[in-house]
Amino acid sequence: MSKFIIRGKNSLRGTVNVAGSKNAALPVIFAALTLFGSSQIIGLPDIGDVDIALRLIEEQGASITRQGSVTYINTDRASYKKPSPELVSRLRASTYLIGACLSRFGRVDVGGYGGCAFCPRPIDYHLALCGAMGALANGDSLTAARLRPTVYKFPKPSVGATVNFLILAASTDGESRLLNPAREPHIDTLVEFLRSAGAYIERDGEGITVRGGTLHGAEVTVRGDAIEAGTMLAASLITGGGIRVMGADPAELSPFLAILRRAGATVDTELGITVRAEGLSPMLVIADAYPAFPTDLGPITAPLLAAFSGGHVIDRVWLGRYGYLSELAKLGVSYVLGEKGAKILPSRLTAGSAAATDLRGGAACILAALGAEGYSEIHSAETVLRGYADLCKKLTALGADVEYSEI
Ligand code: UD1
Repeated sequence: MSKFIIRGKNSLRGTVNVAGSKNAALPVIFAALTLFGSSQIIGLPDIGDVDIALRLIEEQGASITRQGSVTYINTDRASYKKPSPELVSRLRASTYLIGACLSRFGRVDVGGYGGCAFCPRPIDYHLALCGAMGALANGDSLTAARLRPTVYKFPKPSVGATVNFLILAASTDGESRLLNPAREPHIDTLVEFLRSAGAYIERDGEGITVRGGTLHGAEVTVRGDAIEAGTMLAASLITGGGIRVMGADPAELSPFLAILRRAGATVDTELGITVRAEGLSPMLVIADAYPAFPTDLGPITAPLLAAFSGGHVIDRVWLGRYGYLSELAKLGVSYVLGEKGAKILPSRLTAGSAAATDLRGGAACILAALGAEGYSEIHSAETVLRGYADLCKKLTALGADVEYSEI
């Protein structure tokens, strides 16, 4: 167990570089297991979730070497082993083992997937897709002597199931097509990686076409983390500061930046991203599948609304993703939870003690603490460090008073 001790009200100033995107990195790590030979991934972020993902593919016989910003993965000795429940229970992205192990070994034990549990997170699309590609279910295990290409449509866009589709279809002889896929930019990194491994992948308005086969080792650079960028920009606004965020694609953050602009902030994306605001008018945040506002930035925006003129946070991806609000309330945030979402009231942020209910919920508490006068403690810091590289170091370099402490 660990905590952050934060003395709030220091204005953040300076420049910060974001790390590689967690959500782009994790699919690539699991996809590397399906490639024959050696792969190189450049820019994996130094975060807890990446460590667990690497350990999970190491269990399957992958050999991993990290040198500076490059991670080398060799799969010459890969062989199937039941994934250890302890690791699987700590990482939502361990669902990508379904696609990776079925492709590489023709079998996988399914279930026990952990990670952020802000809502029930079903895997029925993943399983139905595997069935359509010829996998047979026997209790908790799936087997497929030979996968067959398919044309498949998800009822709604799912990032996780789209990743598994890409991993499976890229290793399957023949042409597969997915309709109604997720289009989140972090999937682009996986597409780039699989193309460089020899798969043909084309995307159009309706779906994704993949012509797969035996794949060879490949190389990719992980894009910058837009969610980290949004978190840092929110930290800057909540402390009345002005920082420049480098390394993230402003286009990926455009729904977030558009809402800030509409609320009266000055947004500049000429060199990195800067956002400044004297005040912000009420904001309406509706999180949904890309290109809408990203669900991961819903919790991040909530304390910002509270610190300024209030507004609404409505999550249409995860209908119950509001558990973090009861922790934000311990730091002064007033809200009313209704059937459609949360109404955040203009509030005076106050120092206090709160806990990270999940990764982004924990980051939201850190933001509220940065905006509150006095000392706050944010518990379960390790939950936040699962997804933010060098968080303390970066915030401290920008002028925040933040300390990490093991309990
Ligand atoms: C989602 C987000 C992703 C974010 C992550 C963590 C979207 C589309 N995806 O990805 O950007 O980084 O949460 O916060 O915004 N669903 C099913 N059955 C399935 C799979 C999904 O019903 O088998 C439903 C889910 O209940 C959810 C929606 O589809 O309502 C999207 O889920 P999905 O994109 O798969 O979730 P993640 O991959 O975790």
